[in-house]
Amino acid sequence: MRENHWNPVLYESKHSFIWQYGEELLNLLSPQPGERILDLGCGTGQLTEKIASAGAVVMGIDADRNMIEKATYNYPQLQFAVADARNFQVEQPFDAIFSNAALHWIPEADAVIHCIHQALRPGGRLVAEFGGKGNIKAITKALSSVLETTGYISPTTLNPWYFPSIGEYTSCLEQHGLEVIYAALFDRPTPLSDGDAGIANWIQMFANDLLSGLSAEQRTNVIQSVEHHLKPSLYQHGIWVADYRRIRVVAIKE
Ligand code: BEZ
Repeated sequence: MRENHWNPVLYESKHSFIWQYGEELLNLLSPQPGERILDLGCGTGQLTEKIASAGAVVMGIDADRNMIEKATYNYPQLQFAVADARNFQVEQPFDAIFSNAALHWIPEADAVIHCIHQALRPGGRLVAEFGGKGNIKAITKALSSVLETTGYISPTTLNPWYFPSIGEYTSCLEQHGLEVIYAALFDRPTPLSDGDAGIANWIQMFANDLLSGLSAEQRTNVIQSVEHHLKPSLYQHGIWVADYRRIRVVAIKE
């Protein structure tokens, strides 16, 4: 899960598309009254609250303390906790585990899926969506090429994300005793808010760790140069559109 400390204010004000797109995944989850559901990587809690409003008994967890503080502030009636998706245990198994836009932050998929399996009751379901193979290809290519050219950072430190293929991820689920009943990989071009500043905001929010060793001036230079590389492909009619690609899965504990 996210290990850097995010800024929940920036997250909520400029990146609300994260939970707005997540609403489609909620339909796939179809939470039922009284079901016990875990929201894994809940961020500031917007989708956790939607699950609760369907009548489910929900708990949200996230590795980022700031996000959990803000989720608790937003929805004091709900239960949230700081927890690491690679290493969590639950007292009572859940009927379902839901996860939107979180699992691409955790390369240790085996450990995560092991915990998911343990936290579900037999017959319980995992409904998850995150960045899949090919996600943000143009953005990572531009960042990599700019950082390599400037010599600021070794490109080997560049990829903090996990974007698996369907084959890779569903095999892992099956190895852990989760039967995959649905899997899809699809492009989801994602318009960013704030017009001209869209990609700069995105980089500052999500690729901040990659630039952490740089001075403010170097960061500005890198971001401007990345914008220049990406403008022909990702800037359309005054809006930046991130080249997101999602993997979506539903799997049942056997
Ligand atoms: C994503 O939602 O696909 C994503 C967000 C931030 C960084 C990388 C991927």
